Amino acid sequence: MIIAVTGTPGVGKTTVSKLLSEKLGYGYVGIKEFALEKGIGEMVGEELEIDTEELAEAMSREFQGRNVVIDGHLSHFVPADVVVVLRANPKLVAERLKERGYSREKLAENVEAELVDVILVQALEENENVLEIDTTGKAPDEVVEEILTLLKSGTKKRVGVVDWSDVYDEVLPYLRL
Ligand SMILES: Nc1ncnc2c1ncn2[C@@H]1O[C@H](COP(=O)(O)OP(=O)(O)O)[C@@H](O)[C@H]1O
Ligand SMILES: [Mg+2]
Repeated sequence: MIIAVTGTPGVGKTTVSKLLSEKLGYGYVGIKEFALEKGIGEMVGEELEIDTEELAEAMSREFQGRNVVIDGHLSHFVPADVVVVLRANPKLVAERLKERGYSREKLAENVEAELVDVILVQALEENENVLEIDTTGKAPDEVVEEILTLLKSGTKKRVGVVDWSDVYDEVLPYLRL
């Protein structure tokens, strides 16, 4: 089974993906590392720009029929059995990305994306099977347990678990207005 773990930068994808892959005994694949290894994508300034079609093809070829957890904010473009969309309070995203040294512009872009469900909407356009998880206030192992419970119960789709409109005021200072 191929499990794609996606979400806005800073929501906890890498932490959760590694733990989830350990619990399931699956392989762990980071998209950026995979792309660099396969020569997919181009460096634009300091960022690796990845063509999602090329990524999807290369990953399908490599992982079809294998058990892997694919970690990255582009993972929902990869054909997967299920896409897990991690969500976190945009304020939390802002704090984590600030700590990571993101520029004001990049920080705003990502806080806005989390606020208005950008990745969730993309994931729903790409895949029938989408599990959305609110990680806010949960430890990584609790998030993993929630994913495992949904998978075990055979839940194919579970979305609409967050609404960040009530925290809009709190993240206003981070936005590009
Ligand atoms: N469920 C969680 N609860 C609390 N902190 C978390 C959780 N998941 C991740 N973190 C922390 O948030 C930060 C960003 O997590 P990371 O996995 O690197 O996110 P991403 O891969 O989505 O950018 C890390 O410092 C990590 O320890
Ligand atoms: Mg990561």
